Amino acid sequence: MSRRVLVSPSLLSADFGRLAEEVRAVEAAGADWIHVDVMDGRFVPNLTLGPVVVRAIKRVATRPLDVHLMIVEPERYIDAFAEAGADILTVHVETCPHLNRTLQQIRQAGVKPAVVLNPATPLVAVEEVLGEVEMVLLMSVNPGFGGQRFIEGTVDRVRRLRAMLDERGLSAEIEVDGGINAETGRRVVEAGATVLVAGSYVFGSADYAEAIRSLRP
Ligand code: DX5
Ligand code: ZN
Repeated sequence: MSRRVLVSPSLLSADFGRLAEEVRAVEAAGADWIHVDVMDGRFVPNLTLGPVVVRAIKRVATRPLDVHLMIVEPERYIDAFAEAGADILTVHVETCPHLNRTLQQIRQAGVKPAVVLNPATPLVAVEEVLGEVEMVLLMSVNPGFGGQRFIEGTVDRVRRLRAMLDERGLSAEIEVDGGINAETGRRVVEAGATVLVAGSYVFGSADYAEAIRSLRP
Protein backbone atom coordinates (compact mmCIF):
# COMPACT_ATOMS: atom_id res chain seq x y z
CA MET A 1 0.00 0.00 0.00
CA SER A 2 1.41 3.39 -0.84
CA ARG A 3 0.74 6.12 1.70
CA ARG A 4 1.07 9.84 1.08
CA VAL A 5 4.34 11.11 2.52
CA LEU A 6 4.90 14.59 3.89
CA VAL A 7 8.34 16.20 3.80
CA SER A 8 9.37 18.50 6.65
CA PRO A 9 12.78 20.07 5.94
CA SER A 10 14.72 20.88 9.11
CA LEU A 11 15.92 24.48 9.25
CA LEU A 12 18.83 23.38 11.45
CA SER A 13 20.87 22.94 8.25
CA ALA A 14 19.61 26.15 6.62
CA ASP A 15 21.67 29.35 6.34
CA PHE A 16 20.55 31.21 9.48
CA GLY A 17 21.80 34.49 8.06
CA ARG A 18 19.16 34.15 5.33
CA LEU A 19 16.46 32.33 7.26
CA ALA A 20 13.46 34.03 5.62
CA GLU A 21 14.82 33.32 2.13
CA GLU A 22 15.55 29.72 3.06
CA VAL A 23 11.97 29.22 4.32
CA ARG A 24 10.57 30.67 1.09
CA ALA A 25 12.93 28.60 -1.04
CA VAL A 26 12.11 25.33 0.63
CA GLU A 27 8.38 26.03 0.44
CA ALA A 28 8.69 26.85 -3.26
CA ALA A 29 10.58 23.57 -3.62
CA GLY A 30 7.58 21.63 -2.27
CA ALA A 31 8.05 21.35 1.52
CA ASP A 32 4.83 20.27 3.25
CA TRP A 33 5.85 21.42 6.72
CA ILE A 34 8.76 23.38 8.17
CA HIS A 35 10.66 21.52 10.92
CA VAL A 36 12.07 23.78 13.64
CA ASP A 37 14.57 22.31 16.13
CA VAL A 38 14.57 23.90 19.58
CA MET A 39 17.56 22.90 21.74
CA ASP A 40 18.44 24.07 25.23
CA GLY A 41 22.00 22.84 25.85
CA ARG A 42 20.68 20.65 28.67
CA PHE A 43 18.50 17.91 27.23
CA VAL A 44 20.80 17.94 24.21
CA PRO A 45 24.38 19.24 23.94
CA ASN A 46 23.55 22.09 21.58
CA LEU A 47 21.66 25.40 21.63
CA THR A 48 19.49 26.77 18.87
CA LEU A 49 16.52 29.08 19.09
CA GLY A 50 13.42 30.03 21.04
CA PRO A 51 9.98 31.59 20.54
CA VAL A 52 11.36 34.88 19.16
CA VAL A 53 12.84 33.09 16.15
CA VAL A 54 9.77 30.85 15.74
CA ARG A 55 7.69 34.03 15.50
CA ALA A 56 10.02 35.40 12.83
CA ILE A 57 9.75 32.14 10.84
CA LYS A 58 5.97 32.27 11.19
CA ARG A 59 5.89 35.68 9.52
CA VAL A 60 7.26 34.23 6.28
CA ALA A 61 6.07 30.62 6.35
CA THR A 62 2.84 29.54 4.71
CA ARG A 63 3.20 25.84 5.60
CA PRO A 64 2.62 24.43 9.14
CA LEU A 65 5.47 24.86 11.63
CA ASP A 66 6.50 21.46 13.02
CA VAL A 67 8.31 22.46 16.23
CA HIS A 68 10.54 19.80 17.85
CA LEU A 69 11.29 20.71 21.48
CA MET A 70 14.57 19.22 22.72
CA ILE A 71 14.37 20.98 26.07
CA VAL A 72 13.93 20.02 29.70
CA GLU A 73 10.63 21.00 31.34
CA PRO A 74 8.93 21.76 28.01
CA GLU A 75 5.67 22.50 29.85
CA ARG A 76 7.16 25.84 30.90
CA TYR A 77 7.36 27.05 27.30
CA ILE A 78 4.30 25.58 25.58
CA ASP A 79 2.24 28.76 25.71
CA ALA A 80 5.15 30.84 24.41
CA PHE A 81 5.67 28.54 21.41
CA ALA A 82 1.92 28.39 20.77
CA GLU A 83 1.73 32.18 20.73
CA ALA A 84 4.79 32.34 18.49
CA GLY A 85 2.92 30.31 15.87
CA ALA A 86 3.80 26.63 16.27
CA ASP A 87 1.23 24.40 14.55
CA ILE A 88 2.57 21.11 15.91
CA LEU A 89 4.49 20.89 19.20
CA THR A 90 6.50 17.72 19.76
CA VAL A 91 7.82 16.91 23.24
CA HIS A 92 10.33 14.22 24.18
CA VAL A 93 8.88 11.48 26.38
CA GLU A 94 12.24 11.49 28.21
CA THR A 95 11.56 15.07 29.41
CA CYS A 96 7.93 14.60 30.53
CA PRO A 97 7.16 12.87 33.83
CA HIS A 98 3.53 14.00 33.37
CA LEU A 99 3.28 13.29 29.67
CA ASN A 100 -0.50 13.06 29.54
CA ARG A 101 -0.84 16.44 31.23
CA THR A 102 1.74 18.06 28.96
CA LEU A 103 -0.03 16.77 25.83
CA GLN A 104 -3.34 18.15 27.14
CA GLN A 105 -1.66 21.47 27.81
CA ILE A 106 -0.49 21.61 24.19
CA ARG A 107 -4.00 20.85 22.90
CA GLN A 108 -5.50 23.48 25.19
CA ALA A 109 -3.06 26.00 23.74
CA GLY A 110 -4.63 25.33 20.33
CA VAL A 111 -1.67 23.37 18.94
CA LYS A 112 -1.46 19.76 17.70
CA PRO A 113 0.32 17.61 20.31
CA ALA A 114 3.00 15.10 19.31
CA VAL A 115 5.50 12.97 21.19
CA VAL A 116 9.04 11.92 20.30
CA LEU A 117 11.28 9.08 21.44
CA ASN A 118 15.06 8.88 21.44
CA PRO A 119 16.53 5.85 19.64
CA ALA A 120 17.03 3.89 22.89
CA THR A 121 13.62 4.61 24.43
CA PRO A 122 11.23 1.62 24.23
CA LEU A 123 8.04 2.18 22.23
CA VAL A 124 5.93 1.13 25.23
CA ALA A 125 6.84 4.49 26.81
CA VAL A 126 4.18 6.10 24.60
CA GLU A 127 1.68 3.24 24.40
CA GLU A 128 -0.74 4.85 26.86
CA VAL A 129 -0.87 8.17 25.01
CA LEU A 130 -1.19 6.94 21.42
CA GLY A 131 -4.82 8.09 21.38
CA GLU A 132 -3.86 11.57 22.62
CA VAL A 133 -1.37 12.57 19.94
CA GLU A 134 -1.54 13.67 16.31
CA MET A 135 1.92 12.29 15.63
CA VAL A 136 4.68 10.10 17.04
CA LEU A 137 8.21 11.08 16.04
CA LEU A 138 10.92 8.45 16.12
CA MET A 139 14.46 9.80 16.33
CA SER A 140 16.77 7.96 13.95
CA VAL A 141 19.86 9.70 15.41
CA ASN A 142 20.67 10.85 18.92
CA PRO A 143 19.23 14.38 18.94
CA GLY A 144 21.43 17.47 19.01
CA PHE A 145 23.04 17.84 15.61
CA GLY A 146 22.32 17.65 11.91
CA GLY A 147 24.28 15.49 9.49
CA GLN A 148 24.52 12.34 11.62
CA ARG A 149 24.25 8.79 10.36
CA PHE A 150 20.88 7.02 10.33
CA ILE A 151 20.52 4.38 13.08
CA GLU A 152 19.46 1.12 11.38
CA GLY A 153 17.23 -0.18 14.18
CA THR A 154 14.80 2.65 13.39
CA VAL A 155 13.28 0.74 10.45
CA ASP A 156 12.05 -2.03 12.73
CA ARG A 157 10.85 0.52 15.30
CA VAL A 158 8.74 2.20 12.63
CA ARG A 159 7.27 -1.18 11.65
CA ARG A 160 6.38 -1.98 15.27
CA LEU A 161 4.89 1.48 15.88
CA ARG A 162 2.84 1.15 12.67
CA ALA A 163 1.44 -2.14 13.99
CA MET A 164 0.62 -0.57 17.38
CA LEU A 165 -1.32 2.25 15.71
CA ASP A 166 -3.09 -0.01 13.21
CA GLU A 167 -4.14 -2.47 15.93
CA ARG A 168 -5.82 0.39 17.75
CA GLY A 169 -7.36 1.92 14.64
CA LEU A 170 -5.41 5.15 15.21
CA SER A 171 -4.35 7.49 12.42
CA ALA A 172 -1.52 9.43 14.10
CA GLU A 173 1.31 10.36 11.75
CA ILE A 174 4.65 8.56 12.13
CA GLU A 175 7.51 11.00 11.59
CA VAL A 176 11.19 10.04 11.39
CA ASP A 177 14.02 12.51 12.07
CA GLY A 178 17.77 12.09 11.53
CA GLY A 179 19.96 10.85 8.71
CA ILE A 180 17.09 10.84 6.21
CA ASN A 181 17.98 10.76 2.51
CA ALA A 182 16.32 9.14 -0.51
CA GLU A 183 17.47 5.68 0.54
CA THR A 184 16.76 5.73 4.29
CA GLY A 185 13.57 7.70 3.60
CA ARG A 186 12.28 5.00 1.24
CA ARG A 187 12.96 2.30 3.83
CA VAL A 188 11.16 4.02 6.70
CA VAL A 189 8.22 4.86 4.43
CA GLU A 190 7.97 1.18 3.43
CA ALA A 191 7.91 0.37 7.15
CA GLY A 192 5.00 2.77 7.72
CA ALA A 193 6.34 6.31 8.23
CA THR A 194 4.21 9.17 6.88
CA VAL A 195 6.37 12.27 7.57
CA LEU A 196 10.08 12.62 6.80
CA VAL A 197 12.28 15.26 8.40
CA ALA A 198 15.39 16.03 6.37
CA GLY A 199 17.95 18.69 7.22
CA SER A 200 21.36 18.28 5.62
CA TYR A 201 19.95 16.20 2.75
CA VAL A 202 17.69 19.06 1.59
CA PHE A 203 19.70 22.14 2.57
CA GLY A 204 23.00 20.56 1.53
CA SER A 205 21.68 19.89 -1.94
CA ALA A 206 22.08 22.24 -4.89
CA ASP A 207 18.45 21.70 -5.89
CA TYR A 208 16.00 21.70 -2.97
CA ALA A 209 13.06 20.68 -5.19
CA GLU A 210 14.91 17.66 -6.54
CA ALA A 211 15.92 16.58 -3.02
CA ILE A 212 12.34 16.89 -1.74
CA ARG A 213 10.97 15.04 -4.77
CA SER A 214 13.42 12.19 -4.18
CA LEU A 215 11.96 11.68 -0.69
CA ARG A 216 8.48 10.96 -1.98
CA PRO A 217 7.53 7.42 -3.04
C1 DX5 B 1 18.58 16.51 15.30
C2 DX5 B 1 17.36 17.27 14.79
C3 DX5 B 1 17.09 17.03 13.37
C4 DX5 B 1 18.21 17.42 12.43
C5 DX5 B 1 18.22 16.40 11.35
O1 DX5 B 1 18.63 16.57 16.67
O2 DX5 B 1 16.22 16.91 15.52
O3 DX5 B 1 15.86 17.62 12.97
O4 DX5 B 1 18.09 18.68 11.85
O5 DX5 B 1 19.30 16.63 10.51
P1 DX5 B 1 19.72 15.61 9.38
O6 DX5 B 1 18.52 15.44 8.47
O7 DX5 B 1 20.87 16.28 8.73
O8 DX5 B 1 20.08 14.33 10.07
ZN1 ZN C 1 14.24 17.58 14.72
